[in-house]
Amino acid sequence: MEYAYPKGHVFYRKLGRVYPLATRGDGIYLYDEKGKRYIDGSGGALVVNIGHGQKEILQRMMEQMGQVGYVHGTQFTTGSIEEYAEALGKILPEGLEKIYFLSGGSESIEAAIKFARQYFLESGHVQRWRVIARWHSYHGNTLGALSLTGRIGMRKPYLPLLIDFPHFPPPYCYRCPFNLSYPRCELECAKTLEHVIRMEGPETISAVILEPIGGATIGALVPQDGYLSMIREICDRFGILLIDDEVMTGMGRTGRWFAVEHWNIIPDIMVLGKGMSGGYFPLSAMITRSEFIERLKERAGGFVHGHTFSHHPVGCAVGLAVLRFIEEKRLIEQCHKNGDYLLKRLGELKAFPFVGDVRGKGLMAAVEFVKDQKTKEPFPRTERFTERVIDSAFENGLVLYPGTGFVDGVNGDMVMVGPPLIIEENQIDEIIEILKKTFNKLGMRS
Ligand SMILES: Cc1ncc(COP(=O)(O)O)c(C=O)c1O
Repeated sequence: MEYAYPKGHVFYRKLGRVYPLATRGDGIYLYDEKGKRYIDGSGGALVVNIGHGQKEILQRMMEQMGQVGYVHGTQFTTGSIEEYAEALGKILPEGLEKIYFLSGGSESIEAAIKFARQYFLESGHVQRWRVIARWHSYHGNTLGALSLTGRIGMRKPYLPLLIDFPHFPPPYCYRCPFNLSYPRCELECAKTLEHVIRMEGPETISAVILEPIGGATIGALVPQDGYLSMIREICDRFGILLIDDEVMTGMGRTGRWFAVEHWNIIPDIMVLGKGMSGGYFPLSAMITRSEFIERLKERAGGFVHGHTFSHHPVGCAVGLAVLRFIEEKRLIEQCHKNGDYLLKRLGELKAFPFVGDVRGKGLMAAVEFVKDQKTKEPFPRTERFTERVIDSAFENGLVLYPGTGFVDGVNGDMVMVGPPLIIEENQIDEIIEILKKTFNKLGMRS
């Protein structure tokens, strides 16, 4: 049996691909029905934070399903919801204390956009509803989230449906949008936010949203020191909320519970997803401050938002089990240490003439490809360089996550490496060996 469009009834995400049938997951490995082993080098889309097949998660999920599998979020709460919120509350940055549970990253981004809007509405600032985001960012695929997402190719087909949200350039030092270099640039990329706010009219802006470390659409883009604090200061000066999208970076991925902790920044709203459940259940959250919620309670009685699967008892049981797993196995410390090792070893790939940049933090890393290392000229998109790397690595038993289009909206090639946080040093060595083999096999000699 071949799993590919147009066979069968599944509307596959990739219509031109023959899918292997995954039958088993164990730690950092996945196995298909033919017994072939793959290293899940990207944990899916940087989701599988604690590895596959962890029995204690299954056990806790079954217990919760046996007790109560579903209640509606307007009718009941459960022990799992209360306990998970309590445990998360202990690790969240100071002041972020109320957690609205949802089931996907995009859903929680929508909640954040609406929450910021409702907060200002109830505060008497009725004009404030627009959210400023960054170019080459990723915040999701639903229409509100896509309106924020700065990936040009992804937005284009749906432009007539999108909301008029302004964008500003990312802190992309490898290709500085201002042709400057750090530290002499004095963080022009952060300062430009102020220009955008002034041009758009500060009185119309509710929030600024960013990924503290750029993810799926630009590849583990770590900002320079001082960048996030400057953004925070600009937001404060204009009375604008700061939304921290930690869907990819949150829950330990970068060597801290949350990426903003690397720079001691406290946002007004935080969004989590992916690693919260490690992929075992669709789970996400929009988190904010009590004093903001109080404003909504006084005026409207609450947040006018909700989904059938919000505040899901099983999702919360899984989330709590994953959080405990990370704590007990000290995975954040391990991620910090092994992240340094991964980046060091990925650095060796710069010997290949088409590897332009290697970047990242913790176990969130990316390799950017270029046609010319000196000029940084990207490959023309028609060469489909990223896809060739991804397919060839997959054939060699390594799963990576692709990203394209971030140089100019069309060109730009990179792969993300983001294995489960349980990975050991010798398994990182295996990833590097497969990458080298892949690059050589494609005729991409170093
Ligand atoms: C930073 C970020 N925000 C939001 C999302 C959207 O999450 P989801 O795919 O669960 O809707 C993603 C997904 O990749 C993401 O990386």
